[in-house]
Amino acid sequence: MKKSSFWACALWMTAALHLSTAAEPVSTTEAGREKFIAEFRRIGLNTAPGDAKLLQILVQSSRARRGVEVGAATGYGAIHMGIGFERNNGKLITIDIDPAMVRATRENLKKVGLDNTVSVVEGDALKVLASLDGEFDFVFIDALKRDYLKYLKAIEPKLKAGAVVVADNVIQSERQMRDYLDYVRTSPLYDSTTVRASMDKNDGMEISFKK
Ligand SMILES: C[S@@+](CC[C@H](N)C(=O)[O-])C[C@H]1O[C@@H](n2cnc3c(N)ncnc32)[C@H](O)[C@@H]1O
Repeated sequence: MKKSSFWACALWMTAALHLSTAAEPVSTTEAGREKFIAEFRRIGLNTAPGDAKLLQILVQSSRARRGVEVGAATGYGAIHMGIGFERNNGKLITIDIDPAMVRATRENLKKVGLDNTVSVVEGDALKVLASLDGEFDFVFIDALKRDYLKYLKAIEPKLKAGAVVVADNVIQSERQMRDYLDYVRTSPLYDSTTVRASMDKNDGMEISFKK
């Protein structure tokens, strides 16, 4: 084989390999997305199915238009909320500090055609939240448990009246987020309650409504 043909062949193979591993949309239909969610290979970090579905319902029922998720992992919650935001004609930003998680979330969102609705930001949420412009009407907090109050304080000046703030793992990690729970449950700024949407887990989410 001539040297030039060898390199042309090598280039073509590299391109083909790249294309075959790139995330391609699986389906943007409702049924296709449901199948993708049902077959999603959840990792231990992902939000439980009942909690993810409740997040989607909360986004839809509050007609939220601009949301932020703190801690994306592989995007299981972001896909659910993304479906809600797409239906509301809104947008979601999800933040993760781990580049591998950011990559996985971007690929999963692309596979279900939600990459235009949900943008994934890599970085420390405390810095990213402080740098975001504009107002928000939905927040899902699900990163370092001891930092929940810091995340809320970083986004609080940008929360609209009527915003919904959801915090995950508030039963299992109650001690690490005592300051957060005391704050949202006693502050005159919020109405707040704990819900359990995944009966198979001894855990729950705190849902707080900004008055
Ligand atoms: C429990 S998982 C998130 C699960 C996700 N919400 C879901 O629905 O599947 C927590 C994630 O927070 C990320 N994380 C931890 N500290 C962070 C920080 N300071 N800023 C942003 N992300 C962080 C971790 O990399 C991890 O992926």
